[in-house]
Amino acid sequence: MEPLVEIDHVDKHFGELHVLKDITTTVDRGEVVIVIGPSGSGKSTLCRTINRLETIDSGEIRIDGTPLPSEGRDLARLRADVGMVFQSFNLFAHKTVLQNVTLGPIRVRGLSRRDAEARAMELLERVGVADQATKLPAQLSGGQQQRVAIARALAMEPKLMLFDEPTSALDPEMINEVLDVMTELAHDGMTMIVVTHEMGFARKVANRVLFMADGAIVEEGTPEDFFTHPRTDRAKDFLGKVLTH
Ligand SMILES: Nc1ncnc2c1ncn2[C@@H]1O[C@H](COP(=O)(O)OP(=O)(O)O)[C@@H](O)[C@H]1O
Ligand SMILES: [Mg+2]
Repeated sequence: MEPLVEIDHVDKHFGELHVLKDITTTVDRGEVVIVIGPSGSGKSTLCRTINRLETIDSGEIRIDGTPLPSEGRDLARLRADVGMVFQSFNLFAHKTVLQNVTLGPIRVRGLSRRDAEARAMELLERVGVADQATKLPAQLSGGQQQRVAIARALAMEPKLMLFDEPTSALDPEMINEVLDVMTELAHDGMTMIVVTHEMGFARKVANRVLFMADGAIVEEGTPEDFFTHPRTDRAKDFLGKVLTH
């Protein structure tokens, strides 16, 4: 069986800046891949190319064996198949929590309002915020908003979930409630690519760690291997900085 995500010799520039350098990796179904690395190393850009929020200069990205569509209906379908959760919660501010979660399924997946709401309530229950369903996002804590963002992504029944530093804008006491939801999702078999600095989470949940620096994948291995035996100076230096705090 082919991997769910294939990233094949991908290069990208922003003007002069070579932001992704010959990136090649695959993500299997059900696998949890953690992407770590210093700020500016290209982690967000890599995530954004996977659902084509960014184009690439060369190489190819395939999901389920199909190269990423460049536009139109196929691109909309791809976006629905790839859930994304960002650092900032990106909820629709003027819609209730419930409406935030039902909008995509109604518009893109064609669900009836009734079915979409029933499904949304199950998901809000699963992430522990069902009692907030009628509120507006601003009435929720950051941790609750981020859990709603996860429920909203899951409502589209994605094949893959991308998380780009989902807890880095949160107050410390709210980080674990979001990581717990993500851990459960991983245990339920969701394929996940997660950019995070939460090393405890990475050790516990990752099948594989990708360490990026300067636009390239510098190391790739099991969390055990990576955290206990980083091979490159770049990785040793990075781990030294993040683990001593
Ligand atoms: N839209 C953009 N235009 C120009 N440069 C960008 C853009 N987005 C990111 N960059 C630059 O690309 C590099 C990688 O950014 P990013 O992927 O956000 O890194 P990371 O997520 O690892 O911090 C950085 O130097 C950043 O300033
Ligand atoms: Mg980033």
